[in-house]
Amino acid sequence: MEQHTLIDDFKTIYPDSMNGEARLFFSPGRINLIGEHTDYNGGHVFPCAITFGTYGAAKKRTDRLVRVYSKNFPEAGVIEFSLDGLEYRKEHGWANFPKGMIAYIEEAGWELPSGMDIIVYGNIPNGAGLSSSASLEMLVGVIVNKLFELDIDRIDLVKLGKKVENEFIGVNSGIMDQFAIGMGQAGSAILLDCNTLKYEYAPINLEDYQIMIMNTNKRRELADSKYNERRSECEAALVKLQSKLSISSLGELSEEEFEQHKQLIGNELLEKRAKHAVYENQRTLKAFNALQEGRLEDFGKLMNESHQSLKDDYEVTGKELDALVEAAWQQEGTLGARMTGAGFGGCAIAIVEKSKAASFIEEVGKKYMDRIGYAADFYAASVGDGTREIILEVQG
Ligand code: GLA
Repeated sequence: MEQHTLIDDFKTIYPDSMNGEARLFFSPGRINLIGEHTDYNGGHVFPCAITFGTYGAAKKRTDRLVRVYSKNFPEAGVIEFSLDGLEYRKEHGWANFPKGMIAYIEEAGWELPSGMDIIVYGNIPNGAGLSSSASLEMLVGVIVNKLFELDIDRIDLVKLGKKVENEFIGVNSGIMDQFAIGMGQAGSAILLDCNTLKYEYAPINLEDYQIMIMNTNKRRELADSKYNERRSECEAALVKLQSKLSISSLGELSEEEFEQHKQLIGNELLEKRAKHAVYENQRTLKAFNALQEGRLEDFGKLMNESHQSLKDDYEVTGKELDALVEAAWQQEGTLGARMTGAGFGGCAIAIVEKSKAASFIEEVGKKYMDRIGYAADFYAASVGDGTREIILEVQG
């Protein structure tokens, strides 16, 4: 198992490290069941943590040095920095995520008595849009919290993770990913109100169905710039609506209120963007109720509507995600399918009848290959716990 070998790898990479064994940690990736591009619009999201994620082994040092090594980027080697030099450095690549997390924990008032050695290994498919970066941020947050017994509240770590992404790395994302990863519970999705951070767990009882993750294998190249563009389009629409309405986010509007006042926006494109944000938020609440009440078919239909809206009104899907989702829609025994995450490539999810999973993979895979020209990947999703320390049982 990956987790056991990571402790051995730690010894190989840091042979000079003393004072006992490294401690082992795990931080998941996430999928979002529904509620896409709603988090930064003050709406609801409905994500869950998955059992793919990032493992980390770590140990305190006695000096102020921090050393990090990723088995996913062996060519980058061991990257070193001091607690006295925690600024972003482009050439530090992936190490900027741990560095940012450590920097913001200290900036928030927790002073670290020493540095540490960390080795990480992630099995989240590369570039798949399953939040490998938030997984790493939360992993390092929990490592630092545990190693130095800081007792930082989990929600505060979630907020610090988001801050790293927004300010240290420079991606203007919402809070969904860090929240799902930091707060995940096995077997449940989390309904989160991104305005108030109120949340509720909802058991995922899919009976004879399972969640299938479908990877387009298209990297999300334009994702960051288009993401920021959608954000500003929604902000522009909100400003227009605020000329008459006293609202602070699009998430506060019902569908009826939106229809009554949409002419205030005065721009067709901005109106489509805002429409998605408003309707998607309401769909998320409906989907939460459908799942709670075991109305799986309704849940699936809401997923389909979500994808259609992300395609037509929000325009963040692209031909690869559409090819996968549309092929999934045609499969008998599939309740619903939609893109998940930011879009522009990455992954989609489908609710598939367990007994038809093999034919689903074969047929959707073939249609994707025919339409796009390269293969998609499929993984059964298991819904797991949030970021945590793994206590290894002593052998013998
Ligand atoms: C990315 C961001 C999230 C969220 C989704 C879209 O995953 O990191 O904050 O905005 O896109 O729902």
